[in-house]
Order: sequence, then structure tokens, then C-alpha cells
Amino acid sequence: MEGRVILGQIIHCINLNTLSVLDNGFVLIGIDGKIKATGNASDLESAKKQLNFTRLETITLKKKQILLPGFIDTHIHAPQYPNAGLGYDKPLLEWLDSYTYKLEKKYKDLELSKKVYDAVVRKTLDYGTTTACYFASLYDDSSLILANSVTKFGQRAFVGKVNMTKLAPSDYVETAQESIDNTLKFIRNVRAINNPLVQPIITPRFALSVDMDVMKKLSLIAKEYNLNIQTHISENKDEVKMVHETYNDLYASVYHTANLLTPRTVLAHGIHLSEDEMKLLHKTGTSISHCPESNVYLSSGICDVRKLWEHGINVALGTDVSGGASPSIINAMRSAISASTNLSFTKSKYTKLTYVDVFYMATLGGAKALALDNEIGNFEVGKSFDAVIVDLDIEHSSADLLSECTPQELLQKLVFLGDDRNVVKVFVNGKIVKD
Ligand code: GUN
Ligand code: FE
Repeated sequence: MEGRVILGQIIHCINLNTLSVLDNGFVLIGIDGKIKATGNASDLESAKKQLNFTRLETITLKKKQILLPGFIDTHIHAPQYPNAGLGYDKPLLEWLDSYTYKLEKKYKDLELSKKVYDAVVRKTLDYGTTTACYFASLYDDSSLILANSVTKFGQRAFVGKVNMTKLAPSDYVETAQESIDNTLKFIRNVRAINNPLVQPIITPRFALSVDMDVMKKLSLIAKEYNLNIQTHISENKDEVKMVHETYNDLYASVYHTANLLTPRTVLAHGIHLSEDEMKLLHKTGTSISHCPESNVYLSSGICDVRKLWEHGINVALGTDVSGGASPSIINAMRSAISASTNLSFTKSKYTKLTYVDVFYMATLGGAKALALDNEIGNFEVGKSFDAVIVDLDIEHSSADLLSECTPQELLQKLVFLGDDRNVVKVFVNGKIVKD
């Protein structure tokens, strides 16, 4: 049997509070891209024999390199990438009207779609995002181009054609019938690509922009086609108030009524949720995508991740480009620590998030949110090898000035100083997609 072995310092999460650190470890990967064995380097020979590996390509990490599971961005708007950094003088609802919809409606243009989507996929892979959960635009043919870009560059992804039937510009909105028909067409077309790494995802934009009967129909489609679901929840106080006024119900209850809350649903933000809503999300097994940079830039608020955890809710990370400016999950990890530290200044008995906490959200927490935790998120035997090799021996990381660093110190350097320059190799399902 042929395959590949990676030797060196390896870090991954076993669960929320447990980091596995190998100072001199190995991961053995089969030709099918699956992890066949891991352990200490001293046990490699016996693992090779047992598994009948004869020819192996060996990658030996350098002293200041570490192998990590690939990063998972559970919330990113691909068409908004050209707007990254723009419009943060406005809160959510005004920002949507004055910047976001105006850009998204340009994606009728399929050439623009290809240009931007290729750039987004290439850039996120360069930052080590091996799995991305994308919002595309209203247009199914343009959204299909995103699924093709993802396929071309080898990323694992969910791609959603966005549904919007109300409270939108008159030239960026669908009828209920169009919304459903085009969603079904999009699902068939993504499935026809026949790439197991790319799945369509049901994507009602948020409760304010989709009618209840359309949300209900979308939940039936999710069930029939066995699909994940994504939307936004409780991001901004004015938005929450409008949802209460529109539906005369709690935000989470609106989605629950539409049968959109499932263990395969990921909800972006979740900043202003009530106790009852958190209990409901725990009961339905629904995850939150924490988008710390966006929450600050759009002045939405600070999400209390520990409180969500205390309620038994899984939390993952999202860049929320272009609510967030950076398409990097390394940056999202850093922002999550900053947001949490700020929260600790005003809340008594609050312990700020650590680098281990945010690393968990960026990897195994992300896999759980997308119901892929049997497939990716860490280096358990049998999972797909989605991974990054990061190198901290690069001038801007200043680790080059330290004679010794533990693997945990290298991970901290990555979280607080890292960017795409540190990400030297990226693997998705065993295949190298950045070198
Ligand atoms: N709520 C509804 N649409 C959006 C969007 O595009 N970005 C963010 N951050 N929140 C939203
Ligand atoms: Fe968003």
C-alpha cells in the first residue's frame, strides 16, 4: 500500500478541553486520503508493518513547524469579499442596504462571479481554511460557479444559494416560487458536479428576509435532500426587535416553527440570545458560528461564548466576510480572544477564552457545527486528512529569535501573530492544495 507519513510536532483537539500534543509524532495517511495511524515516531515502523505500507512519501517537519488539523470557517459570504474593510461606520441593517445588497446583486454577472470566487477560495486556502461554509448570492447560476471554484482548488465546502423573499431591494429579491425552484435547481446542479467534498446547503438569509412559508418549504427540502442548513440569528439589537415585531415570537422560536433548527444547522452570531433561546438551541443540537471580528466592526455586540458552552451549545468560528474584514480563521481565533478579554473587563467571574479554546472552535468545534465530526476536525484514525503545516520560523512571528519553543508555544505564536505566510502546506482529504 502506498501513502504518506508526516513526522514532527503535532497538535490537535480530542475534545473541548483536551489538547493532544505529540513532540515527535507521526500521522500515516493512505492513498484514499484517510488517516490510517498516528502515534509517537518510535511506533511508526510497527504501524507501517501492521498496515502493510511499503512505499511511503515522508514529510519531516522542521523544528519550528507544527502539523494541525485544517481550519474550518463556518460562516463566510463569498460575494462580499470585494467589500472587506468597507462600511463599518454603519450598523447591520443600514450596512446591508447601503453596501451589501448593492454588491451582491452584481453577481448576475458570471464573469465577476468567477473572478471573485476564484480569489476567495484561493485566499482562504492560503490561510489554511480546509473547509468553508459559504453564503453565495441569490442567483443559482452564479452560486454554482462558487461550487466550481471550490472544486477546482480542492477545498471542502458547503455552498448556499441565498433565499430572500422580502425586506430587500426590489431588484434583489425573489418570489416565493422562484426561491424554491431556484434552490432545487441549484441543489441538482451542485450534486451533478459529483464532488463529494462539496455539498449544497439550505441558506435562508435571516428571518427578516424570508417569509415563513418559504422557510418551512426550505426545511422540507433540507430533509428530503439530506442537507445542512445555515442562517443568521440575533446579531444586532434592532434586528432582534424587528424579528419580535414581525413574528411576535423569539428569534430562535421563529426558526423552530419553520423546522430549521436541527443538529445540522449552523446559526451565525447568536449575540443577544435569551436563556429560553439558548435552551432551545441546546435541545435541537444546533450550533453557533461565532464571528468575533464582524461583531466588533458592525458594532453588533460581544458574544459570550462561555455562556453558550454552559448551555451545552457547540460553538464554531466564522470570518463573516465582509462583516468581518479578514478571510482568515487564524485572525478569527485572535479576534475571539480579544472579544472575550474585553468581556472579562466588564463581567465579574468571567474567564476569558484561551488559545486552546479558540483552536478548538477553529477545528473540532467547526467540524461538529457542520456535522462533519466523524470525518474531519482532528487526527483520529479513519478521518480524512485535512491539515495544515504551519511554520513559525518566519521573521514576523519572532520565533526565529527563540532558541527553543514547545509545540504549545508555537501554536500560541500562530494564534496571536499568524497569517498566510506561516501556512506552508495545506491538505484536503490527503491532497496537497497549497505548497
Ligand atoms: N444578516 C443578514 N444578512 C447578513 C449578512 O450578509 N451579513 C451579516 N453579518 N449579517 C447578516
Ligand atoms: Fe453573515
